[in-house]
Amino acid sequence: MENYTEQLDAKGYIDVAIDPRLDLVDEINRLKREKNAVILAHYYQEPEIQDIADYIGDSLGLSQQAAKTDADVIVFAGVHFMAETAKILSPGKKVLLPDLKAGCSLSDSCPPHLFAKFKEQYPDHLVITYVNCTAGLKALSDIVCTSSNAVQIVESLPKDQKIIFGPDKNLGDYVKRKTGRDLVLWNGACMVHEIFSQDKIYSLRRQYPAAKFIAHPECEEHILKEADYIGSTTGLLNYSTKSDADTFIVATESGIIHQMQKANPRKTFIPAPPNNACACNDCPHMKLNTLEKLYNCMKYELPEVDVPLDIIDRARKPIERMLEISERLGL
Ligand code: 13P
Ligand code: SF4
Repeated sequence: MENYTEQLDAKGYIDVAIDPRLDLVDEINRLKREKNAVILAHYYQEPEIQDIADYIGDSLGLSQQAAKTDADVIVFAGVHFMAETAKILSPGKKVLLPDLKAGCSLSDSCPPHLFAKFKEQYPDHLVITYVNCTAGLKALSDIVCTSSNAVQIVESLPKDQKIIFGPDKNLGDYVKRKTGRDLVLWNGACMVHEIFSQDKIYSLRRQYPAAKFIAHPECEEHILKEADYIGSTTGLLNYSTKSDADTFIVATESGIIHQMQKANPRKTFIPAPPNNACACNDCPHMKLNTLEKLYNCMKYELPEVDVPLDIIDRARKPIERMLEISERLGL
């Protein structure tokens, strides 16, 4: 096979021209069968990627799938930390990511070497990290959590247990409010969830007085305090499906609206507007993945995500601890 190292270093993905006559959906399905591959996609992916995935979910669901799949190849339609988590849980499998540069501002906000120094100041604290972080950070943690189990994981620990929570200060603040615990927080945040405009949300609520306002806990407190429901992407999807309301203003990345609309064709979903000229809020990292990159990545089995063995060894325990607690609590 040709050497694509330079291309991957420069671009982060395989940039080989694709025959325009090909039906990419058929081809991707063929490659899935040929290579015994599974496509795991996050809700923030483009609709056409979600539609071809074997499993679409939030970070907890995706980790649970990555841990139990019997496929030989995991194609992760998401961002780098998600593919790393899959590799840590299934180190014997090949894990592919359509674009290696699909990173995460929240993960970037917490470099492991700085966190290690921060942690040294609190030697008697347990470290809980949100899954949106590098494998190196997970290796410094005691328990990993996601937005769908952070509150329950903190509550599962003794009341006097001292805790550092990182890297998301907004999720950490939300967990503090829900549990009444005093967590030491790392000062990180997600660029996508910190950009919502409170004024524009107020004006939408005036325009649609019967609408439910639903929000992801990565949003800031002034946004969350307005919400009728707060939850992970799966939580938001389930709430909108079960609710009797027919209109929802949705404060998270707009990709989730594809599944909301599919599950509830008669309901109306309005993306909460950001503080700029746009009408909805996209994650620039998630949206780096395209159907073309997905096809090339499956065809050439590149780019592959690898995690050093010593990091796998240390990062696996805190993720498994999260999966055990979640299973015990039926999450
Ligand atoms: P969840 O899908 O787990 O709610 O996470 C949201 C997110 O920001 C993923 O990058
Ligand atoms: Fe990271 Fe935020 Fe994008 Fe999720 S939405 S991948 S937390 S930057």
